[in-house]
Amino acid sequence: LVVPEEQAAHLAADAVTAALQRAVAERGRAVLGIATGGSPLRLYRALGERVRAGEVDASLLQGFLLDEYVGLPAGHAESYREVVRRDLQVHVPLADHAVLGPDPHTGDHAAAALAYEEAIAAAGGVDVQVLGIGGNGHLAFNEPGSPFDSRTRLVELAPRTREDNARYFGGDVSAVPVAALTQGLATIAAARELVLVASGAAKAQALAAALEGPVDVACPASLLQLHPRATVVLDPAAASLLA
Ligand code: F6R
Repeated sequence: LVVPEEQAAHLAADAVTAALQRAVAERGRAVLGIATGGSPLRLYRALGERVRAGEVDASLLQGFLLDEYVGLPAGHAESYREVVRRDLQVHVPLADHAVLGPDPHTGDHAAAALAYEEAIAAAGGVDVQVLGIGGNGHLAFNEPGSPFDSRTRLVELAPRTREDNARYFGGDVSAVPVAALTQGLATIAAARELVLVASGAAKAQALAAALEGPVDVACPASLLQLHPRATVVLDPAAASLLA
């Protein structure tokens, strides 16, 4: 779907709302997969409108983050757990205990990654995963070259990703963490539905590779081509290099 950015948020919110409603109808609750960053901001606001209109009961929702920086002090304003409070929970009032991310403070990242996979499984899996895409085609912090069968693990951030994210750290690349805990590509692919939102020309090349290029680890987001229920909502600039 290619539509202006503001309308894109509402279309994406339609898809997310429908998936959450389906899950609630089937199991009495629903699990939302949460992306951070600029891409889903309007979507989260639009989702908040749906919650206020009574279309979704936030008390029946559980949320799982895609990823979390490693190396920031707990409670740091740019840690994704804090970003989600500001960008999502302000609009969609998920209880704090109902939102989980990989824990970067345990001292044992492998154990934390495993515990996170187990928590997602114990919740019954993710019903609908919101996604953005990196300018280099990354999904969550699965940088190019990440295996399609990867699970939650410790990763190093690509230089391009740290440069892209420096805007959240006062423009100072050296302040951007060098590592993160991220859901793997197989973890993401296990969500029953994916909704990717992107806007702006900086994403155009990655989207052309992801949607029309070969399914290859060189572009992690090409994984979307393999998923049975993936919705991609783009503004015209982001879609400008699609055939
Ligand atoms: C965020 C995440 C990243 C972003 C991507 C795009 O949880 O996993 O993959 O979705 O870097 O970021 P924005 O939306 O800020 O352009």
